[in-house]
Amino acid sequence: ALAAAAQRVAAEFEYSKEAVNRGVDAFITQMHEGLGKQGATMSQIPTYVTGVPNGTEKGLYMAVDLGGTNFRVCSIQLHGNSTFSLTQSKVPIPKDLMVAQTSHELFSFLAKQIQLFLKTHHGEHYNTHTERRASMAGFGGFREEEIFSLGFTFSFPVQQVGINKGTLIRWTKGFDIHDTVGKDVCALLQKEIDALGLPVRVSALVNDTVGTLMARSYTSPGKTRTLLGAIFGTGTNGAYVEKLSNITKLNTTAGSSSNYDKSTGEMIINTEWGSFDNQLSVLPDTPYDRDLDRESVNPGIQMFEKRISGMFLGEILRRAIVSLVQDPAVPLFHDDDSSRNDVHSTTQIDATSPLYKQWGLDTSFLSIAAGDSGLGLKATRQSLDNDYGVSAASAEDAEAVRLIAAAVGKRAARLSAVAIAAVVISTASLATGDKDDVVDIGVDGSLVEFYPNFEEYIREALREIPRIGPEGEKRIRIGIAKDGSGVGAALIALVADRAMKSAG
Ligand code: BG6
Ligand code: GLC
Repeated sequence: ALAAAAQRVAAEFEYSKEAVNRGVDAFITQMHEGLGKQGATMSQIPTYVTGVPNGTEKGLYMAVDLGGTNFRVCSIQLHGNSTFSLTQSKVPIPKDLMVAQTSHELFSFLAKQIQLFLKTHHGEHYNTHTERRASMAGFGGFREEEIFSLGFTFSFPVQQVGINKGTLIRWTKGFDIHDTVGKDVCALLQKEIDALGLPVRVSALVNDTVGTLMARSYTSPGKTRTLLGAIFGTGTNGAYVEKLSNITKLNTTAGSSSNYDKSTGEMIINTEWGSFDNQLSVLPDTPYDRDLDRESVNPGIQMFEKRISGMFLGEILRRAIVSLVQDPAVPLFHDDDSSRNDVHSTTQIDATSPLYKQWGLDTSFLSIAAGDSGLGLKATRQSLDNDYGVSAASAEDAEAVRLIAAAVGKRAARLSAVAIAAVVISTASLATGDKDDVVDIGVDGSLVEFYPNFEEYIREALREIPRIGPEGEKRIRIGIAKDGSGVGAALIALVADRAMKSAG
C-alpha cells in the first residue's frame, strides 16, 4: 500500500512533454508582453547595462550581495586577463531582519558588515580614510581614487531607472519589510554607509542574474558570448541579452534614463521569470502547490518560482509527505505490520517533528533523498531520524520519501528548461552562427549546484522541445558561475564609473 501511495503522489508531479511545450509558448508570449509594457506578469526589467565584458577589464572594486542564502561582502581585483581574485566574507541574514519593521534595521546591518569587512581586509585603507573623514563631511573628505566603488547585488525585483538607482517593486523569497517597497534601495544603502563615514560609493545596482551573466562573460572560454545568466537557488530568475529595438517600452517609460550607451544595440534584461504565469494558465498545480501558496506571505505571486526554487521545494515535499502520514490507509512512518490495526499508537514520527511545521523541511533534504542510492537508503533514514523526528524509519518509508522527492525535483528541473528554452528560442540564438557555435549560459545557486542531476533533467526536457531538439541541446553550454554575482557586480561598477567620469 505504501509503495502504491507514494507512486500516486509522485505521479502528481509529472510534467509531460506536451506541458513543457505549452509552457515554452506561453513563456515566449509573456516575455514579449513584458518588453512592451510596465506591469506585465513578467517584469522584463531594463538594466541599463548595455555591454558585456570581454575579460580585459581591470581594477579593484567592492561588491555586496543580498538575496541568496548569505549576505556577502567582497572586494574583487580584476586582473584584466579573464581572471580575478576575490576576498569575501559571508553571513546568513538574521531571519528577523527579513521581516523587520523598517528598512533602516536591514540596511544599517548591511552597512555595518561593510565596515567590518573594510576593517578586517582593507585595514590600512580604512584607518586613513576614517581619520580623514573625522574632519570633513561626506565624500569631500576623500580623494576620488580613495573611494571604493561598490556594486550592490540586490536580488529582488527593482524598477531600475539608472545604473545605480532603482525602486523596489515587491519583496520575494520570504522578505517582507513594508516601508522598503517603492524606495530607491541604493539610496537606502548609501545613507547607512555615510552614517558610518565609510569611503564607499554605491555605483551600481545589480540583480544576481545580471551579475552571473557578466561574470560568465568575463571568464567564459573562447570567443563565445554568454546569452543568459540564471539562478536556481533560494529563488529563480534569469537575465539575458536583448536587442534594444525589441525593448519597445524603453521609448515610452516615463522617468527612465535616456542616458545610456546605445552603441551596442543591446541591453541586458532582468526577466524576473519567478512570476511567469502567475495566473496559472499553463503551470502545473497540485494540492500541495495550492496550500503552499495560500499560506505564503505573497499568495498569487512568484508562482513559477514557487514550483522551482530552493526556498519552496522542501515545503512542497513536506506537504506531500504529511498528506500520506495523515492518511490512515497509508502506512508511512508506522511500526511493523502486526501493529497496523492501531496505526496511531505505533507511529514513529514525533508529534513535535519539524515535518508538521510550515517551512519545516529544508530543501537540502531533497538532495539527500533524491541522491540516495546507498544500501537501504541509509542517508535518508539518518536525516529523517536526526533532523525530522522520525525514528527507525524503514527502508520502505525512505523509498517512498525518495520517490516523491525525486518527482518534485524533476518537475522543478523540467520547468527550468521551459525558461531556458524560451530565452534561447525567442532570441533566435540557435538560428544564428554556424551549427557548431555554442550558446553559453551561466548558472548559479544551491539547487543547480547540489541537486543531483538537475542539469541532466533540464537537458532531457530541452531535447523534447522541437525547436531545440537533440541537435540544439548539444549546442547549449551550461556552466556554473560560482559566486559569480560578486565579480559581476564589480564589472558593472566599473562600467558605471567609466560612464560617470566620461560625463564629467
Ligand atoms: C550566490 C550568488 O552564489 O548564489 C548570489 O552570489 C545568488 O548572488 C546566490 O543570489 C543564489 O543561490 P542561493 O542558493 O544562495 O540562493
Ligand atoms: C527572486 C528575485 C529575483 C532574483 C531571484 C534569484 O526571484 O525576485 O530578483 O534574481 O530570486 O535570487
